[in-house]
Parts: sequence; structure tokens; C-alpha cells
Amino acid sequence: MPGLASRIKTMEISGIRRAFEAAGGDFINLGLGEPDFDTPPHIKEAAIAAIIEGFTGYTFGKGIEALREAISEKLRKENGIDVTKDEIIVTSGASEALHIAIHTFVERGDEVLLPDPGFVSYANLVKLAEGKPVSVPLRKEDLTMDVDAANELISEKTKAIILNSPANPTGAVMSREGVKAFAELAEDHDLIIFSDEVYEKIIYEGKHVSPASFYENVVTVNAVSKTYAMTGWRLGYLAAPRDFVEEMLKIHQYIQACASSVSQKAALAAITGPQDCVTEMVREFRRRRDFVVDALKRLGLMFVKPRGAFYVFPEVEDEEGFVEAMRQRGVIVTPGSAFGKFGKKHVRMSYAASIEDLKAAFERMKGVVGGKRRSPFNHSSLKRGYFM
Ligand SMILES: Cc1ncc(COP(=O)(O)O)c(C=O)c1O
Repeated sequence: MPGLASRIKTMEISGIRRAFEAAGGDFINLGLGEPDFDTPPHIKEAAIAAIIEGFTGYTFGKGIEALREAISEKLRKENGIDVTKDEIIVTSGASEALHIAIHTFVERGDEVLLPDPGFVSYANLVKLAEGKPVSVPLRKEDLTMDVDAANELISEKTKAIILNSPANPTGAVMSREGVKAFAELAEDHDLIIFSDEVYEKIIYEGKHVSPASFYENVVTVNAVSKTYAMTGWRLGYLAAPRDFVEEMLKIHQYIQACASSVSQKAALAAITGPQDCVTEMVREFRRRRDFVVDALKRLGLMFVKPRGAFYVFPEVEDEEGFVEAMRQRGVIVTPGSAFGKFGKKHVRMSYAASIEDLKAAFERMKGVVGGKRRSPFNHSSLKRGYFM
């Protein structure tokens, strides 16, 4: 085998994927990071119309004008971000947006502060750019990233901060003051913020706040993936000051050329069309969140009540043992350390699963957490209680 580039050796296959692939057979999957709903019909119809019309070629690199117009209007109205259509690049999911943003600004030796536990791509994309991910611990009380801890970790090599609210894997939602404090920190140290807002609409308590409403040097990343149950359409976007966008466009052109033409038409229908599909989906997620919160309380596990996204991140004493015991009972959950070193002794459970599946999964969890004889754990070895 020809020698591999050293950068690839610093990366590992995502722990989420490993947990998923290890499963096999018939299981209840609480390991997934995607809505279990179907894409709403009016969005599918827009895509079908695009195909029939023959809208199947390359598009303008930044994305079709109507979609960028719609995104800029959305960002101005909903997020308080003053951007024009020229300050937007439509990408293949938020994943590509994160990739090109990080590669445009981060180079060898640059440090990037990121939430730990946090979404698996952040540290790996920083490594791919030959930068150094710097783990910022979360606040115990609400699992949001700790601004004082971040401040302590800033060095002359720090280049950027990654924010993610609502957050994967915790469901934490940052307060307005919290977001503002990070914007001020970034401004004081002349850092760029990469703000991943893919869960912005999936929020039960609190209000989503974009750092770009306070500070200029922000790349705002979003997608239709989670909001409209469109993960497989691979359609996201970024917004940033014009000068940044022109530089990021270079990478976008060479790695992607443009986002899928058909998906762009679908995204246009999603963003400009009726939003009751989002309201309904969020209502259902809230119902499940409430069920899961109640079930975890009954089990006596320690956790912070999630305020957004569709994950909960309870503490367990023996993370690997818990994941394996659940797997043996046909339920997939993700080990917390897949999300960073501070994720240890936790598991991530996704409630992007039907209430019936959740009920069955928590019934089986009793055998792991609560059942005295059946449990592979000493009952008292599990942390008890919960934070709200
Ligand atoms: C926080 C976060 N950001 C980005 C992504 C990737 O989004 P996309 O499917 O649009 O690439 C995910 C997917 O799980 C995520 O959880």
C-alpha cells in the first residue's frame, strides 16, 4: 500500500459510526443524528419539478440566486445577520460548509477552541487542516461551553472558536448573554467564530441567538438537513463577510464545484414555503423529549434536561459497559467519549425515534440500570439524580 499522508493518521473513524456498524440485526437505534421523519411533500415536489424541467446541470458556484436571496432574507429577519446574497455560499450540507470555513482560516499549528463534548467533525476537520483542536469543557449546570474556561485556554496561536447551539451531543442551548460573551471574547482576541446553527429551529426552551448578530468575524453555518428532515439531500450554506466568502469559494469550487442543483430547488421550497411542517416536527420532538426526561428521572440517571436538538446526554459510571449492555438488549446508544475526552462517563441518546421505540428502549434500559439481578452493573455504581 502506498504511504498515507500523515494528516490522515491523526484521524479516526467516528465512534458514532462504529457503534452503528457494530449493531447489525434488529435493533432500536438511539444512536442516530437525523430526524426520523420524511421530507415534507411540497419540498419533494419542488425537486421532482426541477428534475422534470431538466434543472440538472451545474449551477453558479455559490448557489442559485433565488436560494441565496431567500437565505439572506431569512438570516436578516430571523437571525439579525445583515448579509446579502453575495455573502452566502450554498454547500453540500453543513459538513462541507464547516470544512471549507475551517480550511480557509486554519493552518498548521493554529489552535481552535471547540466544545468538548462536541460534534465529532469539529476536532477532525481542524486536524485535517493541520491545526490543533483545543477542548473547552462545558458548564456542569447547563452543558453550554464555558466562556471563562475558553478565555483561560486562549494562547497566541488561537485562531478560532467553534460554537454550536443548540448542541450535539448535549441538547444544550446557549443564552443570549452566553453567545454575546463569546462574541466579545472573540473580538477582544481578534478570533474568528465558526457558528454551527443546524439545530436552530429544534428548540424547546430559550431562543436561538446567532453570534453574527453581535460580531462581524463570524462564519454562520446552517443547513436544511435537520430543520426539514433533509439529511440525505446534502444541502447547507454558510454566510460571512464578503472578503471571507470569496476566499472560501476557492475551496468550494475545487472540492465541490456547486451543491446539487435539484437539492437547491428543494431547499428553496423548504425555506420559502409553509413552515408548519417544522412546527409539527418540533412539537413531536418535544413530546419525545418530555417522555425521555421522565423516563431517565425514573431510572435515576443524572442528566441535564435538553433544551434543543434531539439528544440527551446522561452520566453513566461505566460508559462502554452501558453501551454494550444496551446493545445486547437490542438498543444502540453512543458512548460519550466519541464526542471528546470530556464526554467520558456519559452516553448520548437520540430521541429521533418513535415514541413506541423509545418506550421499548427505556423498558430494556431498566434491565441495565435498575434490575438488581439482571444488571451487569452494581446498582450503586451508577450516578443518581438529575439536573433540570
Ligand atoms: C452539530 C452538527 N453540525 C453539522 C452536522 C452535519 O450536517 P449536514 O448533514 O448538513 O452536513 C451535524 C450532523 O449530525 C451536526 O450534528
